[in-house]
Amino acid sequence: MATTHEQDAQSVDDSNAQWGGRDPATPLSQNTHLLRWIEKMVELTEPDAIHWVDGSQQEYDTLCNQMVQSGTFIKLNQDLWPGCFLSRSDPSDVARVEDRTFICSLSKDAAGPTNNWEDPYKMRRKLKGLFSGSMRGRTMYVLPFSMGPIGSPMSQLGMQLTDSPYVVVNMRIMARIGMPVLEEIEKDEKRVVPCLHSVGAPLEPGQQDVAWPCNKEKYIVHFPETRQIWSYGSGYGGNALLGKKCFALRIASNIARDEGWMAEHMLILGVEDPQGEKTYVTAAFPSACGKTNFAMLIPPKGFEDWKVWTVGDDIAWIKPDAEGRLRAINPEAGFFGVAPGTSAKTNPNAMATLSRNTIFTNVALTPEGGVWWEGMTDAPPAECVDWQGQHWTPEIAKETGAKAAHPNSRFTAPASQCPTIDPDWEAPDGVPISAIIFGGRRAATMPLIYQAFNWSAGVYIGSTVGSERTAAAAGTVGEVRRDPMAMLPFCGYHMGDYFRHWIQMQRSLTETPRIFHVNWFRKGDDGEFLWPGFGENLRVLKWIIDRTRGRSLGKETPIGWVPLYEDIEWNGLDFPRENFEEMQAVDREAWRAEVLAHEELFINLHDRLPPETVFERELLICRL
Ligand code: OXD
Ligand code: MN
Repeated sequence: MATTHEQDAQSVDDSNAQWGGRDPATPLSQNTHLLRWIEKMVELTEPDAIHWVDGSQQEYDTLCNQMVQSGTFIKLNQDLWPGCFLSRSDPSDVARVEDRTFICSLSKDAAGPTNNWEDPYKMRRKLKGLFSGSMRGRTMYVLPFSMGPIGSPMSQLGMQLTDSPYVVVNMRIMARIGMPVLEEIEKDEKRVVPCLHSVGAPLEPGQQDVAWPCNKEKYIVHFPETRQIWSYGSGYGGNALLGKKCFALRIASNIARDEGWMAEHMLILGVEDPQGEKTYVTAAFPSACGKTNFAMLIPPKGFEDWKVWTVGDDIAWIKPDAEGRLRAINPEAGFFGVAPGTSAKTNPNAMATLSRNTIFTNVALTPEGGVWWEGMTDAPPAECVDWQGQHWTPEIAKETGAKAAHPNSRFTAPASQCPTIDPDWEAPDGVPISAIIFGGRRAATMPLIYQAFNWSAGVYIGSTVGSERTAAAAGTVGEVRRDPMAMLPFCGYHMGDYFRHWIQMQRSLTETPRIFHVNWFRKGDDGEFLWPGFGENLRVLKWIIDRTRGRSLGKETPIGWVPLYEDIEWNGLDFPRENFEEMQAVDREAWRAEVLAHEELFINLHDRLPPETVFERELLICRL
């Protein structure tokens, strides 16, 4: 008996050598709630195998190699791109699907008019039908993850069950996963948000798999009261890496409202001046408006002794500390950045970050086994394989308009590889926040920079952010849409209640961060951008910091405080006063139209708007 048992153990060890000698089907948790839930989900989805994710490098490497075998991954030239892989998605699965994203609160009113809603009982019935047998022929990965540094009082735990190894390896970069998280879960003190994900492509016996399995029917569903996420049919980033938008924003915004903190679509950066004084700010811009570039800003000419430190590029969890000061953590551990437009010129820090151990999705493959995307280099490669696997040349592009990389192609890269990653980016208590910046992509009306008169005026500014639509979500590119606090696609409850929560947050603060609005994208009559942007944005940041520290003057205008030409540090940049004044002009006519346009959003939300929103709007109209 003993011999047989030993032999069995031995053969498990051998066959599981690639998993570090452990049998991945053996549960890594004793948590009975969790085990019961997993059992139920296994019964529902009927996977062929179960794999508990330990998060090790060996496991990551094995999964990547398996995906190379299955065609999901292409291993890049390891001399040029060490540790890097390319993945091409199904052409129908390239972006978040906002029209297939649901907030299934008990009442429709709680989700509000800006979210898709369905009765949770009906939705559960629907989902049970879809998920029934959906993992047949596949492995279910049991993926414990922490949003935020493990053990931080500001972190939250989740458990994602997924049939996508692509999701597992991306989540390993984007979140803290595996054994250390399980240890947290075993402590049984913290809530664990259950997240179920299936690409919705069961494999019948003998059926050949495809490189990117997905389903044309997609459901990205959130149950805010029970803090649950069910995602079906997509393998793409925001729909499938459930720690990111689904948990860290939609579910976390509900938790934050209930617990008195904020889950925001914001980057976090720290500015260090030549004297070593460091000031942290957060900034909310709608998707694909350059948050990653701003978070990794390189100081321009004339600012050689300044440093900009990166804490996060997409999401901030912000909480008042015991002294009543707002502190923020980045709940993520990686960057899921938009590739096109990223270059050694526009964002050298991002280029350094993604130079190794990175997963690229939907970029082009060069003949040398490297990657390329529009805007990466001045001259395109003479030929490459585009994101759909087709031969591509600059001539073909000229003729057909075909892009080598999909406009929403991405890099998934570890934050720790960023040359400007802040030494405190994983500080359990977060970093202190002095200013909050809102912005959008606006060709007209919005000046380069202005400061809100106070918190409630700032909340009004945030709640009326507008931006021209980009490729990060399905829809018509170019049209201006209102995107309050850049949270329209991500707020997991009624937007009116969300504004109220913002207003009320000030009551728990002894120090109120100043609120600003920036617009890097204003154009002149000739259709050209008025502001060079990128590193030069530090000039604007310096004014913001000077204002928060009471060091700089400003001029009062109907919309808020603005800097005079003299208030901006111009050392190293020849920028004429007239250009600055053109960019800062507050055109009362255009602003009246702007305020009228705010009404479109507010009409929808009127029954839940906090009174401050209405009064701030009235005040603004009077001033104009
Ligand atoms: C993102 C987005 O992917 O906002 O970060 O769309
Ligand atoms: Mn985002």
